[in-house]
Amino acid sequence: MEDQTRSEILKTIPYGFYITGVIGGDGEANGFTTCWVSQVSFEPQQIIVAARKDHHSHDLIEDSGVFSVNFLDSEQEDLARRFTEPVQHEGETVGGAEFVAGETGAPIFDEAFAHLECRVAGKMEAGDHTVYLGEVVASNLKRPADILTDLDTPMEYGG
Ligand SMILES: Cc1cc2nc3c(=O)[nH]c(=O)nc-3n(C[C@H](O)[C@H](O)[C@H](O)COP(=O)(O)O)c2cc1C
Repeated sequence: MEDQTRSEILKTIPYGFYITGVIGGDGEANGFTTCWVSQVSFEPQQIIVAARKDHHSHDLIEDSGVFSVNFLDSEQEDLARRFTEPVQHEGETVGGAEFVAGETGAPIFDEAFAHLECRVAGKMEAGDHTVYLGEVVASNLKRPADILTDLDTPMEYGG
């Protein structure tokens, strides 16, 4: 009963939705919907992203030491949903979404309204996830938008 209550409490933590873009040493690009993202330092500007250890993307971050965080707007639930399943890299698309390689090589998705590019500056084991500390090394804001959050959709990750 206590575990169930804890899960209910954890599910009330509000999250924004992003696609984390990753790249392997062999050039394979991938992306996955991510909500466990937070800023953790002003100077230098650093964020954390938690990636589940059994995700393919986890292996790619380990491989390259870089990732991008692509911000989704409140009309992009379908895109967020697509990247909650394994997707394929074909040419200039991942999961059918066009991307370009950023300064770090990590994929930057065209449809995102903004992105941050990060180099891994540290990591922490966190049970079934690894928490990656990313130093922000490049960014772009394409248009003003309201981020998609778990208040806009029944999609959830937590508990
Ligand atoms: C709403 C939502 C948010 C998610 N957030 C995360 C997250 O923060 N970290 C994570 O590792 N997986 C998260 N996932 C799961 C991944 O998006 C999903 O397992 C994905 O298919 C992993 O891709 P990969 O196996 O190609 O790496 C989330 C799933 C959903 C439905």
